[in-house]
Amino acid sequence: MTAIREPVVIHKGLDNVYVKESKICFIDGDASKLFYRGYSIDELADHSTFEETAFLLIYGWLPTTSQLEGFTQKLDSYRPLEPEVLRLIQEFPEQSDPMDVLRTAVSALGLYDPQPMTDELKLRIDKAMRILAKVPTIITAFDRIRNHKVPIQPKGQLTQAAEFLYMLTGNEPDPYDSHVMDVALILHAEHEMNASTFACTVTASTLADMYSITTSGIGTLRGPLHGGANEAALRTVLEVGDPSRAENYVADALARKKRIMGFGHRVYKTWDPRYLILKKFAGELATRKGQSGLFDTAVAIETSARKHLEGTPIFPNVDSYSGIVFHMLGNQTDLFTPIFAMSRIAGWTAHAIEYLESNRLIRPKALYMGKTGLPYLPIESRTGRLEA
Ligand code: COA
Repeated sequence: MTAIREPVVIHKGLDNVYVKESKICFIDGDASKLFYRGYSIDELADHSTFEETAFLLIYGWLPTTSQLEGFTQKLDSYRPLEPEVLRLIQEFPEQSDPMDVLRTAVSALGLYDPQPMTDELKLRIDKAMRILAKVPTIITAFDRIRNHKVPIQPKGQLTQAAEFLYMLTGNEPDPYDSHVMDVALILHAEHEMNASTFACTVTASTLADMYSITTSGIGTLRGPLHGGANEAALRTVLEVGDPSRAENYVADALARKKRIMGFGHRVYKTWDPRYLILKKFAGELATRKGQSGLFDTAVAIETSARKHLEGTPIFPNVDSYSGIVFHMLGNQTDLFTPIFAMSRIAGWTAHAIEYLESNRLIRPKALYMGKTGLPYLPIESRTGRLEA
């Protein structure tokens, strides 16, 4: 066996490992700041739209009026699904998890692209837009099919947020609901080198196509440690049920070393700036929809948790109110992570495109701790278990 000569450092979880230089996203986890391409998330949430933000992430600058028109027209033209992909979705078991449906349908989209592989930047962006535009159609088509309703064709000339809500219900959404959905999409569009973005970057580094890249991202986002915390946070609020029960719940959970969902973050050691924005909208939506009890319970959980966790760097994150917002906008709980994906495709594809500008195959190492030179035993002499 060849001895390893240099001391080896294993970065399990890759904490604090930088894999590329980037101009897409900056998180200042100590100062509660998040920037997309240099613009603060607060400014984007106040003034931008998801389409503008997606353009910004992918191209690197804010679009002019004509650039934005061209971008949104193209999204509109890509929004309808190929009949073959729709038929495929109709064949899926009704009880499928929508993330599994999304992963499979996005992968299938590549089969109906006459030229999925390309080295050309313009075509790569085009494929990113094709996927971005079709994901709301895939999610809503499946949701309607599983509820024994006919999928709704995109209306066109609506924002991604409004189009999603329209295709989900068949009714043109209330402008305020569309606005909140739009802001939620902006807030979820990008977050530097998180697990799913890294998965997309690894796949891009092999020079795979955009469909394979985004399918890797969806598969990675699927896990409860990444995409599922908003569902868990909402479940906690529903389980607690009333503000008066929040203190007992939190004290008991923390005494049993249980984590409070929607709290804590690998990068933010203070307030997650996205949490602050979503909390405001959650409060407003609750008043409008007559669901103040839900919001008040979430606030009571937050207040108790902050009291118990005082002095620690564990603060509320984006997921503490995003699930409540998605719920009040009429989405079933298992659609929360697909909605997250619908937005994050902008960030995934932006990072893949950026990485490919000066690509290097990502190929880390594993430190081998096993044996070598074992004799190959005939089948009748094997023990059938792992030897010490
Ligand atoms: N509630 C209570 N305690 C928490 C906590 C939470 N939500 N998050 C972290 N902690 C505690 C851990 O129990 C640990 O305590 P210990 O040192 O006494 O064992 C300490 O904080 C460090 O935890 P660790 O898991 O190492 O921190 P991390 O920075 O890697 O964790 C998360 C980041 C997101 C995985 C973690 O905060 C978490 O599980 N949060 C809940 C799920 C969630 O909201 N995820 C969405 C993230 S956007």
